[in-house]
Amino acid sequence: MSRRCALVHGLYRNWTFSPDQASDTIGRMEMRRPIFRSDPARALALLRRAEVVHLATTTPDGAPVLRALDAAVLDDGVYFHGARTGEKVLCLGRPAVVSAEEVVARLPSTFTHQTHACSASTLYRSAQVHGSLVEVTDPHEKARALEGLMARRQPEGGYDPIDPADPEYAGELAGTLVVKVTLDRVDGKEKLLQNKAPEEIGRILTALWARGAPGDARAIEAVREANPRVPAPPFLAAEGVTLHAALGPEDAAATEALLRGEYWWEGFRPEGIGPAQLASSAWVGARAPDGALVASARAHSDGRYAWIYDVVVAQAWRGRGVGKRLFALLLDHPAVRRCPFVKLDTRDAQGLYAKFGFVDAETKRRFATSTQMVLVRGWADRRGGAAP
Ligand SMILES: CC(C)(COP(=O)(O)OP(=O)(O)OC[C@H]1O[C@@H](n2cnc3c(N)ncnc32)[C@H](O)[C@@H]1OP(=O)(O)O)[C@@H](O)C(=O)NCCC(=O)NCCS
Repeated sequence: MSRRCALVHGLYRNWTFSPDQASDTIGRMEMRRPIFRSDPARALALLRRAEVVHLATTTPDGAPVLRALDAAVLDDGVYFHGARTGEKVLCLGRPAVVSAEEVVARLPSTFTHQTHACSASTLYRSAQVHGSLVEVTDPHEKARALEGLMARRQPEGGYDPIDPADPEYAGELAGTLVVKVTLDRVDGKEKLLQNKAPEEIGRILTALWARGAPGDARAIEAVREANPRVPAPPFLAAEGVTLHAALGPEDAAATEALLRGEYWWEGFRPEGIGPAQLASSAWVGARAPDGALVASARAHSDGRYAWIYDVVVAQAWRGRGVGKRLFALLLDHPAVRRCPFVKLDTRDAQGLYAKFGFVDAETKRRFATSTQMVLVRGWADRRGGAAP
């Protein structure tokens, strides 16, 4: 491949269309590198979590149409609504494609080559649905589509269910144009180094950890998930458990279970545990060989101070070195590693943290006369179990 060709590696080469492709040809196009294909369920999940999706179609006279849309991705179609006078009405019955993508990480050429620009690339996920644009006329299907849109826009609820039998909704339902793109074909692509040798993947993971840009820890985990046979790189090496540079929404419930009942969460709603982890600058964990999450720790960082919270190891795994190894990983996390001050509160685990050089903060006060201050709000209510 020429250097110029290599430079355009990236999102744009996901699917390549020639200008005169007819719609049925598009429907049959094969992905150039099957190694990157992801299954339809993952592709639909990507479309569901996308802030917006893109709809591409044509008018009957062949003019291209491209729209960014808020869509409800249900099991039988990608639904959206619009005005009866809009361009979308013109396109009803036409072949259509809906797509979404997310960049996982940009890899600079210097990760893999000292001087050549050509090895720069982008790790990404993308999804495309091929189908036809059809109007939804059944009031129950329309209601289901609009419920799907409401679930995205207002997940907290606070509205009456959209029911065609409800006179409050019946008129509006009849007057609203709801269209869907049928799921004739669902394609997913995840370009996450699956075409590289394990040693090269290991080097790139190490380079991502060293760079430590926002999202790099999550990118490391995405690459490991896509390449499960690649051994853990040295910064994640551990005995008995698998360490993770980043946890995510799928780990919130397991972390809540680990932390429920720990003394520092007393008086707070346990449902707040998951969101607290997700809002952190660093959130690391360890899994047992069966995949269960058995340890978690997190930190907030502003680049100057890092505050460590929620260090926990499952009861059955305590006393085997997991806590120390996980804590070392958290200190090495890019969000924490670069902070000159790392703080934490503990009631009785001072001995653990002393092993890493932590001392009683009272002995290291920056300003001899300063006072650490706190504003306590609604604590009495919380202790009664009421919402904060
Ligand atoms: C504290 C905790 C995370 C330690 O995890 P762990 O996997 O059991 O710890 P490790 O096996 O890696 O070893 C911890 C080391 O710290 C020492 N230590 C000191 N204080 C400790 C404490 N309160 N709890 C556990 N270990 C403590 C241990 O003796 C051990 O030292 P060693 O290596 O010389 O034997 C775990 O016990 C736990 O989850 N406790 C409940 C939650 C908690 O208290 N978290 C800390 C809040 S600040």
